[in-house]
Amino acid sequence: MGRRFRTRVLSFQAPGVASNHRKILVTGGAGFVGSNVALSLKRDDPGRDVVALDNLKRRGSELTLERLRAGGVRFEHGDIRNAEDLEAAGECDLLVECSAEPSVHAGYGGSPAYLINTNLTGTVHCLEHARRHGSDVVFLSTSRVYPIAPLRALPLIEDADRLVVAPGAAGRGWSERGISEDFSLGGSRSLYGATKLSSELLAEEYRAMYGLRVIVNRCGVLTGPWQMGKVDQGVVVLWMARHVFGGRLAYMGFGGQGKQVRDVLHVEDLIDLLRLQLADVDRHSGQVYNVGGGHGVSVSLRELTRACERISGRKLEIGSDAGTRDADVPYYVTDCSLVTRATGWTPRRPVDAILTDIHSWLMTHRDVLEPVLGR
Ligand SMILES: NC(=O)c1ccc[n+]([C@@H]2O[C@H](COP(=O)([O-])OP(=O)(O)OC[C@H]3O[C@@H](n4cnc5c(N)ncnc54)[C@H](O)[C@@H]3O)[C@@H](O)[C@H]2O)c1
Repeated sequence: MGRRFRTRVLSFQAPGVASNHRKILVTGGAGFVGSNVALSLKRDDPGRDVVALDNLKRRGSELTLERLRAGGVRFEHGDIRNAEDLEAAGECDLLVECSAEPSVHAGYGGSPAYLINTNLTGTVHCLEHARRHGSDVVFLSTSRVYPIAPLRALPLIEDADRLVVAPGAAGRGWSERGISEDFSLGGSRSLYGATKLSSELLAEEYRAMYGLRVIVNRCGVLTGPWQMGKVDQGVVVLWMARHVFGGRLAYMGFGGQGKQVRDVLHVEDLIDLLRLQLADVDRHSGQVYNVGGGHGVSVSLRELTRACERISGRKLEIGSDAGTRDADVPYYVTDCSLVTRATGWTPRRPVDAILTDIHSWLMTHRDVLEPVLGR
C-alpha cells in the first residue's frame, strides 16, 4: 500500500528541486533542527506543503513560529506522544522526525517518563503515521547511541588546549579520524542514547516489514542560529550567548580544564546532506550514517572560549568544576567516511564561520533572544 501511494504522490518533479516530496511533515518542527529543515525544504520548492508539528516544550521554540509563518510553513500544535495529533497534521509523503527530549542528561536523578514517551513511543507513533501514509522517513539519531565506557576508554593524550587520540592509534570503529559506524554498541549509553538506538532498530523493522524507506543519520553536536542553547544541550550557542549577554560559564568534568573535544556541524551543512539523501532515497534507505563536522570542524571548550572572545570582543571568567557527570564523554569526533563515500557530502562550514553566524544571529535578534538565552 505504501509503495502505491508513494508512486502516486512522487510523480511530479519540479525543475531544479533536489527531492520530489510534495507533502512534508517535520515533527519537532519548531525546534532548532526541525524549523531550519522545514523552512529550507519549503524554500527549495515553494509549491510543496510543509507542516511543522511541535508541542513547544523546548523553551524558545515559540520564537520560531513567526519565522515558520513567514516562510510559508504551516504550524500544527501537537504532541508526538499522542498519535491523534499526528493524524490531525494530515497525510505526508515525507516525515522528518526532529522532535525529542534531546539532552543526554535527561532522566538522571528524576523520572525518565517524558524522555521515553517522546523519544521512543513518540517515534513509534511517527513510524506508524508513515506506515499508514506510505511516507518516507528521515530519523535524526545521535552519536550518543555509542556507549559511554568504551568512549571514555579511548587512548587520549593531553595537548595544551585539547585531548587528542594518540597518533597512529586505532581500533574497531575508531581512529584519529574519529568514531565510525563500526564502533562498539555494547554497554550503557544513557537513557537518551538508548531511546534513540531503540528507535533506530524499530525504524529498520518498519523498513524491512512494511517497505518504508527510512534514512537514519547519527548526528554529533549540531549548532547554528535558532538553537536555544542551555547547559545540558546546545553548548556552542550557550557559550557564545553568555559572551554576548553576560553570565557564568564553567568547564565541567574531566578535571575541569575544558580540554574535552566535540566536532560540531552547522545545521545548514546537515540540510545540504539531507537534500542529497532525499534526492536518492532508494540508495540511502536502510543506511545508518554517522554525521558530524569531523576532525576538521572540532573544538575543545578552551578553544571555544578563545574563539568566542575573539568574535564577541568580550572576555569572561570561566569557572571550573572537576566533577564529571554520568553521561559525559571526554572526546567525540565523527568519522564521516561512510556518508561521504555514499553522497560526496562533506561539511563546508568551519568552526569560526559557525560561531560568526551564531554571533550575528544573537546580535540581530537580541531583544527576543536575551530573555531566553541570557544568564
Ligand atoms: N542538536 C544537536 O546537537 C543534536 C545532535 C544529535 C541529534 N540531535 C537530534 O536532532 C533532533 C532535533 O534536535 P534539536 O537540536 O532541534 O532539539 P530541539 O529541542 O531544539 O527541538 C526539538 C523540538 O521537539 C519539540 N518536542 C519535544 N517533545 C515533543 C513532543 N512530545 N511532541 C512534539 N514535539 C516535541 C520541542 O518543543 C522542540 O521544539 C532530535 O531528535 C535530537 O535528538 C540533535
